[in-house]
Amino acid sequence: MKPIQVGLLGIGTVGRGTFEVLSRNQEEISRRAGRGIEITMVADLDTARARGIVGERARVVSDAREVIANPEIDVVVELIGGYGIAKALVLEAIAAGKHVVTANKALLAVHGTEIFRAAAAKGVIVAFEAAVAGGIPIIKALREGLTANRIQWVAGIINGTTNFILSEMRDKGLDFDAALKDAQRLGYAEADPTFDIEGVDAAHKATLISAIAFGIPVQFDKCHVEGITRLASADIKYAEQLGYRIKLLGITRRTDKGVELRVHPTLIPARRLIANVDGAMNAVVVQGDAVGATLYYGKGAGSEPTASAVIADLVDIARLHGADPSHRVPPLAFQSNTLAAAGGDLPVLPMADVVTGYYLRIRVVDEAGVLARFTGILADARISIDAILQREADEVGGEGSTQTDLIILTHDTREGDLDAALAQIQPLPTVLGPITRIRKEELN
Ligand code: HSE
Repeated sequence: MKPIQVGLLGIGTVGRGTFEVLSRNQEEISRRAGRGIEITMVADLDTARARGIVGERARVVSDAREVIANPEIDVVVELIGGYGIAKALVLEAIAAGKHVVTANKALLAVHGTEIFRAAAAKGVIVAFEAAVAGGIPIIKALREGLTANRIQWVAGIINGTTNFILSEMRDKGLDFDAALKDAQRLGYAEADPTFDIEGVDAAHKATLISAIAFGIPVQFDKCHVEGITRLASADIKYAEQLGYRIKLLGITRRTDKGVELRVHPTLIPARRLIANVDGAMNAVVVQGDAVGATLYYGKGAGSEPTASAVIADLVDIARLHGADPSHRVPPLAFQSNTLAAAGGDLPVLPMADVVTGYYLRIRVVDEAGVLARFTGILADARISIDAILQREADEVGGEGSTQTDLIILTHDTREGDLDAALAQIQPLPTVLGPITRIRKEELN
Protein backbone atom coordinates (compact mmCIF):
# COMPACT_ATOMS: atom_id res chain seq x y z
CA MET A 1 0.00 0.00 0.00
CA LYS A 2 1.19 3.53 -0.75
CA PRO A 3 2.88 5.14 2.28
CA ILE A 4 0.79 7.73 4.06
CA GLN A 5 2.16 11.23 3.39
CA VAL A 6 2.61 13.56 6.33
CA GLY A 7 3.26 17.31 6.43
CA LEU A 8 4.68 18.90 9.60
CA LEU A 9 3.70 22.44 10.54
CA GLY A 10 6.58 23.58 12.76
CA ILE A 11 9.78 21.67 13.38
CA GLY A 12 10.86 22.66 16.88
CA THR A 13 11.71 20.19 19.62
CA VAL A 14 8.74 17.85 19.07
CA GLY A 15 8.89 18.09 15.27
CA ARG A 16 12.55 17.14 15.30
CA GLY A 17 11.84 14.19 17.60
CA THR A 18 9.00 13.03 15.35
CA PHE A 19 11.28 13.12 12.35
CA GLU A 20 14.06 11.28 14.12
CA VAL A 21 11.93 8.53 15.71
CA LEU A 22 10.00 7.94 12.50
CA SER A 23 13.27 7.59 10.54
CA ARG A 24 14.94 5.42 13.17
CA ASN A 25 12.04 3.00 13.74
CA GLN A 26 10.59 3.17 10.24
CA GLU A 27 10.63 -0.55 9.59
CA GLU A 28 8.86 -1.58 12.80
CA ILE A 29 6.39 1.29 12.60
CA SER A 30 5.31 0.32 9.08
CA ARG A 31 4.95 -3.32 10.09
CA ARG A 32 2.56 -2.15 12.81
CA ALA A 33 0.72 0.38 10.67
CA GLY A 34 0.39 -1.89 7.65
CA ARG A 35 1.92 0.79 5.42
CA GLY A 36 4.76 3.29 5.44
CA ILE A 37 4.48 6.68 7.12
CA GLU A 38 6.59 9.38 5.46
CA ILE A 39 7.08 13.01 6.38
CA THR A 40 7.40 14.51 2.92
CA MET A 41 6.89 18.21 3.69
CA VAL A 42 7.89 20.48 6.54
CA ALA A 43 6.77 24.09 6.99
CA ASP A 44 8.76 26.33 9.31
CA LEU A 45 9.50 30.05 9.26
CA ASP A 46 13.16 29.23 9.88
CA THR A 47 13.74 27.24 6.70
CA ALA A 48 17.52 27.09 7.17
CA ARG A 49 17.18 25.42 10.58
CA ALA A 50 14.45 23.10 9.25
CA ARG A 51 16.72 22.05 6.35
CA GLY A 52 19.50 21.42 8.86
CA ILE A 53 17.21 18.87 10.58
CA VAL A 54 15.57 17.13 7.62
CA GLY A 55 18.31 17.42 4.98
CA GLU A 56 17.10 15.98 1.70
CA ARG A 57 14.49 13.74 3.36
CA ALA A 58 11.58 16.19 3.02
CA ARG A 59 10.66 19.36 1.16
CA VAL A 60 10.98 22.44 3.38
CA VAL A 61 8.74 25.48 2.86
CA SER A 62 8.15 28.62 4.90
CA ASP A 63 4.40 28.80 4.24
CA ALA A 64 2.26 26.26 6.14
CA ARG A 65 -0.54 26.76 3.62
CA GLU A 66 1.62 25.15 0.92
CA VAL A 67 1.51 21.94 2.97
CA ILE A 68 -2.26 22.14 3.42
CA ALA A 69 -2.81 22.84 -0.29
CA ASN A 70 -0.69 19.87 -1.41
CA PRO A 71 -3.10 17.12 -2.58
CA GLU A 72 -0.45 14.45 -1.89
CA ILE A 73 -0.47 15.19 1.87
CA ASP A 74 -2.86 12.94 3.85
CA VAL A 75 -2.08 14.10 7.39
CA VAL A 76 -1.09 17.49 8.78
CA VAL A 77 0.79 17.49 12.09
CA GLU A 78 0.33 20.82 13.87
CA LEU A 79 3.23 21.56 16.22
CA ILE A 80 3.07 25.36 16.24
CA GLY A 81 1.13 25.76 19.50
CA GLY A 82 -1.12 28.52 20.80
CA TYR A 83 -4.60 29.56 19.72
CA GLY A 84 -3.76 32.03 16.93
CA ILE A 85 -2.42 30.88 13.58
CA ALA A 86 -2.52 27.25 14.77
CA LYS A 87 -6.32 27.38 15.00
CA ALA A 88 -6.69 28.84 11.52
CA LEU A 89 -4.33 26.24 10.03
CA VAL A 90 -6.00 23.30 11.78
CA LEU A 91 -9.42 24.39 10.53
CA GLU A 92 -8.03 24.95 7.02
CA ALA A 93 -6.39 21.51 7.02
CA ILE A 94 -9.70 19.92 8.07
CA ALA A 95 -11.55 21.87 5.38
CA ALA A 96 -9.00 20.56 2.86
CA GLY A 97 -9.88 17.00 3.93
CA LYS A 98 -6.64 16.28 5.80
CA HIS A 99 -6.46 14.31 9.03
CA VAL A 100 -4.83 16.35 11.79
CA VAL A 101 -2.49 15.33 14.60
CA THR A 102 -1.77 17.97 17.19
CA ALA A 103 0.06 18.35 20.49
CA ASN A 104 -1.77 21.61 21.10
CA LYS A 105 -3.67 21.24 24.39
CA ALA A 106 -4.46 24.96 24.61
CA LEU A 107 -6.14 24.95 21.21
CA LEU A 108 -8.27 21.87 21.90
CA ALA A 109 -9.19 22.81 25.47
CA VAL A 110 -10.49 26.19 24.35
CA HIS A 111 -11.70 25.54 20.77
CA GLY A 112 -12.12 21.75 20.80
CA THR A 113 -15.87 21.75 20.27
CA GLU A 114 -15.56 23.79 17.07
CA ILE A 115 -12.60 21.75 15.82
CA PHE A 116 -14.10 18.31 16.52
CA ARG A 117 -17.39 19.40 14.93
CA ALA A 118 -15.58 20.58 11.77
CA ALA A 119 -13.62 17.31 11.61
CA ALA A 120 -16.78 15.21 12.01
CA ALA A 121 -18.51 17.15 9.22
CA LYS A 122 -15.56 16.53 6.93
CA GLY A 123 -15.06 12.89 7.97
CA VAL A 124 -11.45 13.40 9.08
CA ILE A 125 -9.63 12.48 12.29
CA VAL A 126 -8.23 14.97 14.82
CA ALA A 127 -5.84 13.04 17.07
CA PHE A 128 -4.16 14.52 20.15
CA GLU A 129 -2.42 11.91 22.29
CA ALA A 130 0.62 14.22 22.56
CA ALA A 131 -1.51 17.02 24.02
CA VAL A 132 -1.93 15.35 27.42
CA ALA A 133 0.98 14.08 29.51
CA GLY A 134 3.38 13.87 26.55
CA GLY A 135 4.59 10.31 26.09
CA ILE A 136 2.09 8.68 28.48
CA PRO A 137 -0.70 7.09 26.40
CA ILE A 138 -3.42 8.37 28.72
CA ILE A 139 -5.85 9.34 25.96
CA LYS A 140 -5.65 5.85 24.49
CA ALA A 141 -6.04 4.29 27.95
CA LEU A 142 -9.13 6.34 28.81
CA ARG A 143 -10.70 6.13 25.39
CA GLU A 144 -10.04 2.48 24.63
CA GLY A 145 -8.38 0.41 27.37
CA LEU A 146 -10.83 1.55 30.08
CA THR A 147 -13.88 1.76 27.84
CA ALA A 148 -15.80 -0.81 29.93
CA ASN A 149 -15.70 1.39 33.00
CA ARG A 150 -17.80 4.08 34.49
CA ILE A 151 -14.93 6.44 35.30
CA GLN A 152 -15.28 7.87 38.81
CA TRP A 153 -12.33 10.22 38.99
CA VAL A 154 -9.01 11.06 37.42
CA ALA A 155 -6.18 12.84 39.23
CA GLY A 156 -2.89 13.64 37.61
CA ILE A 157 0.45 15.35 37.88
CA ILE A 158 0.23 16.67 34.36
CA ASN A 159 2.76 19.49 34.37
CA GLY A 160 6.40 18.55 34.66
CA THR A 161 7.71 22.07 35.27
CA THR A 162 5.68 22.57 38.42
CA ASN A 163 6.38 19.06 39.66
CA PHE A 164 10.09 19.77 39.28
CA ILE A 165 9.73 23.04 41.24
CA LEU A 166 7.71 21.38 44.02
CA SER A 167 10.28 18.58 44.26
CA GLU A 168 13.08 21.15 44.61
CA MET A 169 11.12 23.05 47.26
CA ARG A 170 10.66 19.87 49.26
CA ASP A 171 14.09 18.31 48.79
CA LYS A 172 16.15 21.46 49.30
CA GLY A 173 13.81 23.53 51.49
CA LEU A 174 13.82 26.27 48.80
CA ASP A 175 11.10 28.87 48.49
CA PHE A 176 9.16 29.13 45.25
CA ASP A 177 11.25 31.88 43.61
CA ALA A 178 14.55 30.09 44.19
CA ALA A 179 13.16 26.77 42.93
CA LEU A 180 11.78 28.48 39.82
CA LYS A 181 15.21 29.98 39.09
CA ASP A 182 16.76 26.50 39.41
CA ALA A 183 14.15 25.11 37.03
CA GLN A 184 14.92 27.85 34.49
CA ARG A 185 18.68 27.39 34.80
CA LEU A 186 18.32 23.64 34.20
CA GLY A 187 15.96 24.07 31.24
CA TYR A 188 12.85 22.66 32.98
CA ALA A 189 11.01 25.99 32.97
CA GLU A 190 10.70 28.42 30.11
CA ALA A 191 11.87 32.05 30.26
CA ASP A 192 8.16 32.98 30.58
CA PRO A 193 6.84 30.17 32.78
CA THR A 194 3.40 31.75 33.40
CA PHE A 195 1.25 29.02 31.81
CA ASP A 196 3.02 26.31 33.78
CA ILE A 197 3.34 27.93 37.21
CA GLU A 198 -0.16 29.44 37.18
CA GLY A 199 -1.69 26.02 36.42
CA VAL A 200 -3.04 26.95 32.98
CA ASP A 201 -1.16 24.22 31.09
CA ALA A 202 -2.38 21.60 33.56
CA ALA A 203 -5.91 22.98 33.28
CA HIS A 204 -5.88 22.59 29.50
CA LYS A 205 -4.93 18.94 29.95
CA ALA A 206 -7.41 18.33 32.79
CA THR A 207 -10.17 19.79 30.60
CA LEU A 208 -9.41 17.28 27.83
CA ILE A 209 -9.21 14.39 30.32
CA SER A 210 -12.54 15.38 31.84
CA ALA A 211 -14.30 15.44 28.48
CA ILE A 212 -13.00 11.98 27.56
CA ALA A 213 -13.63 10.48 30.98
CA PHE A 214 -17.25 11.61 31.31
CA GLY A 215 -18.53 12.28 27.81
CA ILE A 216 -18.93 16.02 28.27
CA PRO A 217 -17.81 18.81 25.93
CA VAL A 218 -14.44 20.47 26.50
CA GLN A 219 -15.13 23.39 28.86
CA PHE A 220 -11.88 25.09 29.79
CA ASP A 221 -13.76 28.20 30.91
CA LYS A 222 -15.36 26.14 33.73
CA CYS A 223 -12.07 24.72 35.05
CA HIS A 224 -10.89 26.10 38.39
CA VAL A 225 -7.23 27.07 37.88
CA GLU A 226 -4.80 27.72 40.71
CA GLY A 227 -1.01 27.50 40.32
CA ILE A 228 1.85 27.07 42.77
CA THR A 229 3.19 30.64 42.98
CA ARG A 230 1.72 31.30 46.43
CA LEU A 231 2.94 28.07 48.02
CA ALA A 232 5.27 28.61 50.97
CA SER A 233 8.02 26.15 51.79
CA ALA A 234 6.61 26.13 55.37
CA ASP A 235 3.43 24.48 54.03
CA ILE A 236 5.42 21.78 52.29
CA LYS A 237 7.27 21.15 55.56
CA TYR A 238 4.12 21.07 57.73
CA ALA A 239 2.35 18.82 55.23
CA GLU A 240 5.30 16.43 55.43
CA GLN A 241 5.07 16.37 59.22
CA LEU A 242 1.42 15.35 58.88
CA GLY A 243 2.24 12.55 56.39
CA TYR A 244 1.36 14.39 53.18
CA ARG A 245 3.11 15.72 50.07
CA ILE A 246 1.93 18.72 48.09
CA LYS A 247 1.48 18.22 44.34
CA LEU A 248 -0.14 20.33 41.65
CA LEU A 249 -2.98 18.03 40.60
CA GLY A 250 -5.46 18.17 37.78
CA ILE A 251 -8.58 16.56 39.20
CA THR A 252 -11.87 15.67 37.61
CA ARG A 253 -14.52 13.71 39.47
CA ARG A 254 -18.08 12.61 38.77
CA THR A 255 -20.52 13.33 41.61
CA ASP A 256 -24.30 13.07 41.97
CA LYS A 257 -24.59 16.77 41.16
CA GLY A 258 -22.15 17.06 38.25
CA VAL A 259 -18.46 17.02 37.43
CA GLU A 260 -15.63 18.60 39.41
CA LEU A 261 -12.89 20.06 37.21
CA ARG A 262 -10.02 21.73 39.00
CA VAL A 263 -6.27 22.32 39.09
CA HIS A 264 -4.65 23.38 42.35
CA PRO A 265 -1.90 22.46 44.81
CA THR A 266 -3.14 19.44 46.73
CA LEU A 267 -2.04 17.54 49.83
CA ILE A 268 -1.93 13.80 49.14
CA PRO A 269 -0.88 11.04 51.53
CA ALA A 270 2.89 10.46 51.21
CA ARG A 271 2.31 6.70 50.96
CA ARG A 272 0.38 6.93 47.66
CA LEU A 273 2.49 6.00 44.62
CA ILE A 274 1.60 9.26 42.89
CA ALA A 275 2.90 11.26 45.86
CA ASN A 276 6.34 9.83 45.06
CA VAL A 277 6.42 11.01 41.46
CA ASP A 278 9.23 13.55 41.56
CA GLY A 279 11.20 15.82 39.27
CA ALA A 280 9.69 16.62 35.89
CA MET A 281 7.82 13.30 35.59
CA ASN A 282 4.07 13.06 35.04
CA ALA A 283 1.60 10.51 36.42
CA VAL A 284 -2.14 10.02 36.17
CA VAL A 285 -4.41 7.88 38.36
CA VAL A 286 -7.73 6.80 36.87
CA GLN A 287 -10.41 5.28 39.09
CA GLY A 288 -12.92 3.15 37.19
CA ASP A 289 -15.79 1.20 38.74
CA ALA A 290 -14.71 -2.14 37.28
CA VAL A 291 -10.94 -1.89 37.16
CA GLY A 292 -10.36 0.11 40.36
CA ALA A 293 -7.38 2.45 40.34
CA THR A 294 -4.83 2.35 37.52
CA LEU A 295 -1.68 4.49 37.41
CA TYR A 296 0.14 5.78 34.33
CA TYR A 297 3.64 7.21 34.76
CA GLY A 298 6.22 8.66 32.39
CA LYS A 299 7.70 11.69 30.70
CA GLY A 300 5.15 14.41 30.06
CA ALA A 301 7.32 16.48 27.77
CA GLY A 302 10.48 16.38 25.71
CA SER A 303 11.38 15.72 22.13
CA GLU A 304 11.14 11.96 21.70
CA PRO A 305 8.58 11.19 24.47
CA THR A 306 6.15 13.62 22.83
CA ALA A 307 7.10 12.32 19.37
CA SER A 308 6.20 8.83 20.62
CA ALA A 309 2.61 10.04 21.14
CA VAL A 310 2.48 11.93 17.83
CA ILE A 311 3.61 8.83 15.93
CA ALA A 312 1.13 6.59 17.76
CA ASP A 313 -1.59 8.87 16.37
CA LEU A 314 -0.05 8.66 12.89
CA VAL A 315 -0.13 4.86 13.08
CA ASP A 316 -3.81 4.93 14.08
CA ILE A 317 -4.55 7.19 11.15
CA ALA A 318 -2.52 5.05 8.75
CA ARG A 319 -4.61 2.03 9.79
CA LEU A 320 -7.94 3.87 9.53
CA HIS A 321 -7.33 6.11 6.52
CA GLY A 322 -10.07 5.36 4.01
CA ALA A 323 -12.14 3.31 6.49
CA ASP A 324 -15.77 4.21 7.19
CA PRO A 325 -15.64 7.08 9.77
CA SER A 326 -18.32 5.32 11.84
CA HIS A 327 -15.77 2.57 12.58
CA ARG A 328 -13.36 4.98 14.24
CA VAL A 329 -12.94 5.57 17.96
CA PRO A 330 -14.73 8.88 18.63
CA PRO A 331 -12.27 11.71 19.50
CA LEU A 332 -13.85 12.31 22.91
CA ALA A 333 -14.42 8.57 23.56
CA PHE A 334 -18.23 8.85 23.44
CA GLN A 335 -20.23 8.97 20.20
CA SER A 336 -20.70 12.67 19.48
CA ASN A 337 -24.53 12.44 19.49
CA THR A 338 -24.38 11.12 23.07
CA LEU A 339 -22.12 13.81 24.56
CA ALA A 340 -23.86 15.44 27.51
CA ALA A 341 -24.80 19.03 26.73
CA ALA A 342 -22.63 21.65 28.46
CA GLY A 343 -24.48 22.48 31.66
CA GLY A 344 -26.96 19.60 31.05
CA ASP A 345 -27.12 16.40 33.09
CA LEU A 346 -23.45 16.63 34.01
CA PRO A 347 -22.67 20.31 34.60
CA VAL A 348 -19.20 21.33 35.71
CA LEU A 349 -19.73 22.26 39.36
CA PRO A 350 -18.82 25.64 40.85
CA MET A 351 -16.04 25.39 43.43
CA ALA A 352 -18.50 26.14 46.25
CA ASP A 353 -20.05 22.70 45.56
CA VAL A 354 -16.76 20.79 45.45
CA VAL A 355 -16.28 18.43 48.38
CA THR A 356 -12.74 17.78 49.60
CA GLY A 357 -10.54 17.93 52.69
CA TYR A 358 -8.53 21.03 53.62
CA TYR A 359 -5.22 22.02 55.15
CA LEU A 360 -5.45 25.33 56.98
CA ARG A 361 -2.46 27.27 58.32
CA ILE A 362 -3.38 30.12 60.62
CA ARG A 363 -0.81 32.48 62.15
CA VAL A 364 -2.20 33.27 65.61
CA VAL A 365 -1.50 34.92 68.93
CA ASP A 366 -0.29 32.12 71.18
CA GLU A 367 -2.75 32.44 74.07
CA ALA A 368 -5.49 30.45 75.79
CA GLY A 369 -8.81 29.97 74.00
CA VAL A 370 -7.63 30.70 70.44
CA LEU A 371 -7.91 27.13 69.20
CA ALA A 372 -11.21 26.59 71.03
CA ARG A 373 -12.71 29.61 69.25
CA PHE A 374 -11.70 28.23 65.83
CA THR A 375 -12.90 24.71 66.51
CA GLY A 376 -16.20 26.14 67.76
CA ILE A 377 -16.74 28.00 64.48
CA LEU A 378 -15.81 24.89 62.47
CA ALA A 379 -18.13 22.71 64.58
CA ASP A 380 -21.02 25.14 64.08
CA ALA A 381 -20.45 24.85 60.32
CA ARG A 382 -20.44 21.02 60.72
CA ILE A 383 -16.84 20.85 59.52
CA SER A 384 -15.07 17.88 61.04
CA ILE A 385 -11.40 18.15 62.06
CA ASP A 386 -9.05 15.34 61.04
CA ALA A 387 -5.79 16.50 62.66
CA ILE A 388 -4.25 19.53 64.38
CA LEU A 389 -0.60 20.53 64.61
CA GLN A 390 0.67 23.43 66.65
CA ARG A 391 4.27 24.56 66.31
CA GLU A 392 6.27 25.82 69.26
CA ALA A 393 6.04 29.61 69.25
CA ASP A 394 9.84 29.84 69.47
CA GLU A 395 10.18 27.70 66.35
CA VAL A 396 7.89 29.97 64.35
CA GLY A 397 8.67 33.47 65.53
CA GLY A 398 12.04 33.09 67.28
CA GLU A 399 12.84 32.98 70.99
CA GLY A 400 10.18 34.54 73.23
CA SER A 401 7.72 34.82 70.32
CA THR A 402 4.05 35.27 71.16
CA GLN A 403 2.78 34.04 67.81
CA THR A 404 2.55 30.59 66.33
CA ASP A 405 1.19 28.59 63.41
CA LEU A 406 -1.87 26.41 63.90
CA ILE A 407 -2.32 23.77 61.24
CA ILE A 408 -5.71 22.12 60.94
CA LEU A 409 -6.65 19.29 58.58
CA THR A 410 -10.36 18.85 57.95
CA HIS A 411 -12.33 15.88 56.74
CA ASP A 412 -14.26 16.22 53.48
CA THR A 413 -16.24 19.44 53.49
CA ARG A 414 -18.26 21.40 50.97
CA GLU A 415 -16.03 24.30 49.88
CA GLY A 416 -18.85 26.83 50.26
CA ASP A 417 -19.24 25.81 53.93
CA LEU A 418 -15.51 26.13 54.55
CA ASP A 419 -15.46 29.58 52.92
CA ALA A 420 -18.26 30.69 55.25
CA ALA A 421 -16.40 29.43 58.32
CA LEU A 422 -13.12 31.04 57.26
CA ALA A 423 -14.95 34.32 56.71
CA GLN A 424 -15.72 34.24 60.46
CA ILE A 425 -12.23 33.16 61.55
CA GLN A 426 -10.15 35.51 59.40
CA PRO A 427 -11.26 38.80 61.05
CA LEU A 428 -10.70 37.57 64.64
CA PRO A 429 -8.12 39.77 66.43
CA THR A 430 -6.08 36.70 67.36
CA VAL A 431 -5.53 35.87 63.66
CA LEU A 432 -2.36 37.64 62.54
CA GLY A 433 -2.29 37.14 58.77
CA PRO A 434 -4.17 35.75 55.80
CA ILE A 435 -5.21 32.13 56.37
CA THR A 436 -3.51 29.67 54.03
CA ARG A 437 -5.92 27.09 52.65
CA ILE A 438 -4.77 24.11 50.53
CA ARG A 439 -7.12 21.35 49.38
CA LYS A 440 -6.43 17.74 50.44
CA GLU A 441 -7.32 14.53 48.63
CA GLU A 442 -6.94 11.05 50.07
CA LEU A 443 -7.14 9.44 46.58
CA ASN A 444 -8.40 6.15 48.00
N1 HSE B 1 5.28 22.67 29.87
C1 HSE B 1 4.66 21.41 30.06
C2 HSE B 1 5.20 20.76 31.32
C3 HSE B 1 4.84 20.45 28.92
O1 HSE B 1 5.99 21.36 32.03
O2 HSE B 1 4.78 19.66 31.62
C4 HSE B 1 3.96 20.79 27.77
O3 HSE B 1 2.62 20.84 28.15
